[in-house]
Amino acid sequence: MKKHDLIVIGAGPGGYVAAIRAAQLGLDVACIEEEDALGGTCVRVGCIPSKALLEASERYHAAGHDLADFGIKVAGVELDLARMIERKTKVVSQNTNGVAYLFKKNKVTRYRGHGRITGRGRVVVEGQDANELEAKHVLIATGSSVAPLRGVELDGDRVGTSTEALSYPEVPKHLVVIGAGYIGLELGSVWNRLGAKVTVLEYLERILPGMDSEIAEEAERIFTRQGIEFRLGSKVTGTRREGDKVFVSVEGQPDIECDRVLVSVGRVPNTTGLGLDAVGIELDPRGRIPIDDHFRTYVAGFYAIGDVVRGPMLAHKAEEEGIACVEHIVTGYGHVNYDAIPGVVYTHPEIASVGKTEDELKSANVPYKKGMFPFTANGRARAIGATEGRVKILAHQDTDRVLGVHILGAHAGDLIAEAVAAIEFGATSEDIARTSHAHPTLAEIVKEAAFAVSGRAIHI
Ligand code: NAI
Repeated sequence: MKKHDLIVIGAGPGGYVAAIRAAQLGLDVACIEEEDALGGTCVRVGCIPSKALLEASERYHAAGHDLADFGIKVAGVELDLARMIERKTKVVSQNTNGVAYLFKKNKVTRYRGHGRITGRGRVVVEGQDANELEAKHVLIATGSSVAPLRGVELDGDRVGTSTEALSYPEVPKHLVVIGAGYIGLELGSVWNRLGAKVTVLEYLERILPGMDSEIAEEAERIFTRQGIEFRLGSKVTGTRREGDKVFVSVEGQPDIECDRVLVSVGRVPNTTGLGLDAVGIELDPRGRIPIDDHFRTYVAGFYAIGDVVRGPMLAHKAEEEGIACVEHIVTGYGHVNYDAIPGVVYTHPEIASVGKTEDELKSANVPYKKGMFPFTANGRARAIGATEGRVKILAHQDTDRVLGVHILGAHAGDLIAEAVAAIEFGATSEDIARTSHAHPTLAEIVKEAAFAVSGRAIHI
């Protein structure tokens, strides 16, 4: 039996960040992780490798298509997929090793194996570092896994998840993506740029549910121009494999033949085999662990954060929760402002969003003003050849307080940081408009959109 102050189960962005912050606050922290590499889905098979491939495929595509416009002649552009994947793998190990280094630096004790709760303050490690652990506090940060789809059997090869789509051995001739969400659009973009025909089947009549619908519609037009085929309102009822071919059945449509299928219809919380019943933690109807505002489950001493609890399944949301949770344990303070959690889709162009969408404001009858400014009217955007998209700012009609910001365009994921800070500080659109933005930058588009809220954009 080993004693610690805090046991963290799971070393994804939620768990590992919480472990480090708790150690900084003086706790003796144990972190249990069953995978060899630390960092969770995000670092191993999610955010980081997908960004490595997105970047690589963008460069490949630019070399073959866009550079001529810049006066650069490139001949004989060739894809070396094996090298591209190898680079991605290296980027991943730099990051997973980085987490291991941070654990050492902060004296977090790492246990390799599966963590199972056996009683109040007790967790066993099953596997390589088998042990019995005891601590006053136990934090569950076990993340999520791919949601299954009825009739579709994942075979870890031709019919797979994002994990397989990060390592296809060759460019698919025809990739069918099920689900037009974050994963489907990001990985669909990668393989489209590398030469695959990509068909996205989406159950709803729109892409990116939950994002601002005006922005999502414009994004759909841009991705369609890039060559991705969207079939909205398509209900997939099954897949059938014949050798290297896969046939995808869609209600009311002929079967679609392809050579690879990417299933990206959401994710579900990881709670099986955790031993929650040993202490009486019950799940909500969506399989999540219920918590209060301080990430406490209804059983004393147990906390949960990240994808296993309510809210968006985003790495940075889990990180915020991890920090707030352990700070609350140690100091009595710590909270997360869920109105100021950005969401970013790393397509080209990127889509970033924070706060309320226009659809949400309308349905809640909140009076609002709207300011929009297109990338095409910005000098820097023209100079770098990134004129697609717009910034949209929604502010309260009476108070001018910024309620939501939605950006479709180059570097949207970085530009949104200003909007997040504005919402966090309770800023008005006038505050953004009166803030000096360096010229010439894409950030000026945000300033102009803020001007546009009161009808006084300069450059349009
Ligand atoms: P998602 O929830 O983003 O999108 C799933 C899509 O599948 C939705 O559009 C939904 O309407 C559709 N769908 C559901 N059932 C369907 C069916 N039977 N047939 C056709 N379409 C169907 O889920 P996704 O893309 O799998 O991502 C999982 C999670 O990972 C998300 O919560 C996302 O937030 C997170 N993620 C975040 C990223 C980022 O922050 N850039 C990148 C990748 C994932």
